[in-house]
Amino acid sequence: MRILVIGGAGYIGSHNVHALIERGDEVVVLDNLATGHRQAVHPAARFYEGDLRSAADLDKVLAENRVDAVMHFAAFSLVGESVQKPLKYFNNNVGGMMSLLEAMERHGVDRLVFSSTAAVYGEPKTVPIVEDAEKDPTNPYGESKLIMERMMRWAGQACGIRSVILRYFNVGGALEDGSIGEDHRPESHLIPLILQVPLGRRPHISIFGDDYPTQDGTCIRDYLHVMDLADAHLRALDYLAAGGESTVCNLGNGQGFSVLEMVEAARRVTGHPLPAKIEGRRAGDPARLVASSDRAKAVLGWQPHAGIEEIIRTAWTWHQKHPAGFEDGQAAKR
Ligand code: UFG
Repeated sequence: MRILVIGGAGYIGSHNVHALIERGDEVVVLDNLATGHRQAVHPAARFYEGDLRSAADLDKVLAENRVDAVMHFAAFSLVGESVQKPLKYFNNNVGGMMSLLEAMERHGVDRLVFSSTAAVYGEPKTVPIVEDAEKDPTNPYGESKLIMERMMRWAGQACGIRSVILRYFNVGGALEDGSIGEDHRPESHLIPLILQVPLGRRPHISIFGDDYPTQDGTCIRDYLHVMDLADAHLRALDYLAAGGESTVCNLGNGQGFSVLEMVEAARRVTGHPLPAKIEGRRAGDPARLVASSDRAKAVLGWQPHAGIEEIIRTAWTWHQKHPAGFEDGQAAKR
């Protein structure tokens, strides 16, 4: 298949591009490099620097490449920033989806795989979380993704665009060879921040709150390897190619780990004592987020394989090889 990957220079997008190329698909990447990295884009992909919100940029890509389907990873995704700058999030995320759906309709492209998030649920009433659980986002980021999902549903019904919405929980890890990995500026995610300690880039890891109603008082999350995530995306493409109806699936391992357990696992993987310091809660953090991925298993035949040690081990390989991320100029030499 020929696939347009929007946001293919970002963390999750670049790993998906790699997986697509590995299995023989043709890949076209559109990315404005606002948060992505040019070096993260696989050399076999056809790269366009451009903005999803620009009808002209999308028209150029879609006119020059007859694509079978679109994968959409191009959204701002920092929860804290979204609270400070909600309109930045609605502009980019909601505006981007509007522009994309219009362009797909203009060019007769009718299959879409979309990265959504556990943040659409807000503070869950029951865990594991199923897809039909109440959606009540607690920040503009989650709200923007929920609006995007709804736009897809309405536009899909009217224009015949079929889609798979994948709601990710916490994603980590990197390609086994460490050639690409996670590099956010600023970094706010737990695993890369933990690994900055053994890299000598910070003296300790801060633990945001130890008074949550969990077994050790720290927040519980469901961590999934980025290549298990990519596998779900390939299956979603195949599902749509086989004529599957629009659907939405959670993606997680179905097992929760506390922040302290993650730090302990990183101590085992790196052999570093990894000092940790308990600090106050971070605003807006739910105590426990764990996915039910039963629907992804049933509908897509998907099954995650990597546990937290493998997630941390592959992330560690990436960070050790590229302590300055993509800035060192060596990253992604394949
Ligand atoms: N944490 C720390 N110290 C840190 C960084 C994080 O204790 O230095 C804690 C957080 O408080 C949280 C857990 O580690 O309890 C995980 O935090 P992340 O920032 O890595 O991930 P989140 O669970 O906040 O965010 C993830 C995705 C978001 C998505 C959200 C859904 O990264 O895109 O889940 O709630 F919106």
